[in-house]
Amino acid sequence: MACKSNPNFFFFFLFTIFIELRFAQQISRTEIVPKDCNGRWIHIRNLPSRFNLDLLSNCSEYPIFDDFCPYLANHGLGQKTHNRSHSWYRTDPSMLELIFHRRMLEYPCLTSDPDSANAIYLPYYASIDALKYLYGPEVNSSAEHGLELFDFLHHNQPEIWNRRGGHDHFLVMARPAWDFSQPLENDPPIWGTSFLELPEFFNVTALTLEGRAWPWQEQAIPYPTSFHPPNLAFLESWLQRVKRSKRTTLMLFAGGGGISTTPNIRRSIRDECKNSTDGDYTSNSGNGRNRDGSPYSNLCEVVDCSNGICEHDPVRYLRPMLQATFCLQPPGDTPTRRSTFDGILAGCIPVFFEDLSAKSQYKWHLPDKEFEESTVTIPKEDVVFKGVKILDVLMGIPRARIRRMREKVIELIPKVMYRKHGSSLGLRTKKDAVDIAIEGTLQKIGMRVQELNLE
Ligand SMILES: *[C@@H]1O[C@H](CO)[C@@H](O)[C@H](O)[C@H]1NC(C)=O
Ligand SMILES: *[C@@H]1O[C@H](CO)[C@@H](O)[C@H](O)[C@H]1NC(C)=O
Ligand SMILES: *[C@@H]1O[C@H](CO)[C@@H](O)[C@H](O)[C@H]1NC(C)=O
Ligand SMILES: *[C@@H]1O[C@H](CO)[C@@H](O)[C@H](O)[C@H]1NC(C)=O
Ligand SMILES: *[C@@H]1O[C@H](CO)[C@@H](O)[C@H](O)[C@H]1NC(C)=O
Repeated sequence: MACKSNPNFFFFFLFTIFIELRFAQQISRTEIVPKDCNGRWIHIRNLPSRFNLDLLSNCSEYPIFDDFCPYLANHGLGQKTHNRSHSWYRTDPSMLELIFHRRMLEYPCLTSDPDSANAIYLPYYASIDALKYLYGPEVNSSAEHGLELFDFLHHNQPEIWNRRGGHDHFLVMARPAWDFSQPLENDPPIWGTSFLELPEFFNVTALTLEGRAWPWQEQAIPYPTSFHPPNLAFLESWLQRVKRSKRTTLMLFAGGGGISTTPNIRRSIRDECKNSTDGDYTSNSGNGRNRDGSPYSNLCEVVDCSNGICEHDPVRYLRPMLQATFCLQPPGDTPTRRSTFDGILAGCIPVFFEDLSAKSQYKWHLPDKEFEESTVTIPKEDVVFKGVKILDVLMGIPRARIRRMREKVIELIPKVMYRKHGSSLGLRTKKDAVDIAIEGTLQKIGMRVQELNLE
C-alpha cells in the first residue's frame, strides 16, 4: 500500500490523524451541549504518542501478521468499499482501539479535570502494541506487555491513578482477552501477553472483543462490522433493505474450517449442508419445507471464507446473509466470531452452539431478554454426539415465530453497529455500540467505586 512504498505520504497521513484528533477534541466541547453529565464525566488521560499514534508507524513491519496500513484509514474504519460508498468500509476489527479513541473525542461529557471525572479513559492501542509480543521479536518478553504504561501512570501525575487505585480507569483491547491472559509463570510463553494477569492492571476495566469464562477485569463488546453510516437516512435505507430482503436460504454458514476428520461442530455443519444440497436429505419433520409449506429454494449454503478471503470484502458474505433466514455461528479458534455481528446486520437470525459465543459475552449489547427473543441456541454436543440435526431444529420453528425473531434482530442493528465518527446529530440520538459500551463502563466503575468506598 501507499504507506509501504511512500513514507512521506504515510507520515503526512499520521500527521492528519493527529490534527484531526486535536480538532475533534475542540469542536466536541461546543458542538453538543451536554444534557445531563452528572455521573458521566470522563477524562481522557493524556498519553505520550508512543502509546498510541507512534505504534501505527510500524504497520507494515509484522511479517507473520498482516500489513495493517490499509486498515488505518478513516480513523480505523478502513478504506471505503468503493469510492461512492457512504456507509461501507473494509473494516478490520483489530482497529477498534482507533475507532473507539476517535469516538471518545466526540463524547459530550469530557472533562479536562481528572478530579471531577467519574472514569478515566486510557487511549492506549493495547492490541497493536501487543503485536511485537504476539508476532514479533519480543515473544519471549510478553510478560512485560503493559509495564511501560504502568510506569508512566505511576510516575506522571500519579495522583490521577492513586485517587482510586486505578479502579476508575478503562481501556479498549481489540482482541479476545485470551490473547492477554498468559500466566506469568509460563516461561517461555505458550500464547499471548500477560497484560490482564499483571497485578498492576487488576483494577482496570478492559473492553475486549471476547471475555474469558469468568472475567473480572474485561467486558466483551461487539466486533466492528463494515457498516458505519454517517446519518439517519443511510441507516434507515439499510434497515428498509434488510426488512424487504427475500429469504430464500434456510440456513447459512460463512466461514472456514470443518475439514478435519475429528468430530466437531463445523464439520457437522459442513456434512449436513452437503447432504441437504446433494438432495438426499431426509428429515423427521419435512422435505425442505418449513411448517406451513413455503419452500426455501436452498436449505443450506456455505460461504467459503477460508484463508481470510472474506475479511475485508463484506459483499462476499453480506449478500448471501441478506437472503438467509438463519446464520450459523459455530465457535472457531475461540468461541466468538465477528460474523455474529455481520449476520445481525443482515437481519439473519443467529444460531449459536455454546453460551460463550455470545450469550455470556455481550451482556451490555445483547441483554438476556433481547438475546432470548432474537437468537437460537442448539448445544454443540447434541449435534456432534447425539445426532440432533440442525436442519430439523430450524425447520421446526413456526413461520410466525421466525418473523418475530427477525424483527427483534433488526431492532438490534443500531445497537451493535459502530456509527461513523462525526455523524449527524440525528444519528447520535440513537445509542450505538460505543454509546452502550461507555454507559456500561460508567455503571461498572460506579458500582466498583461505591463497593470499595472510593468516592
Ligand atoms: C518500529 O520500527 C522501528 C524501525 O524499524 C523500530 O526501531 C522500532 O523498534 C519499531 N517499534 C516497534 C514498537 O516495534
Ligand atoms: C477512487 O478515487 C480515487 C481518488 O479520488 C481515484 O484515484 C480512483 O481512481 C477512484 N477509483 C475508482 C474505482 O473510481
Ligand atoms: C524464545 O525462547 C525460545 C525457548 O527458549 C527460543 O527457542 C526462541 O528462539 C526464542 N525466541 C526469540 C524470538 O527470541
Ligand atoms: C487495586 O486496588 C486495591 C484496592 O482495592 C489496592 O489495594 C491496590 O493497590 C490497587 N492496585 C494498584 C496497582 O493500584
Ligand atoms: C449425511 O448423509 C449420510 C448418508 O445419507 C448419513 O449417513 C449421515 O449421517 C448424514 N450426515 C448428516 C450430518 O446429516
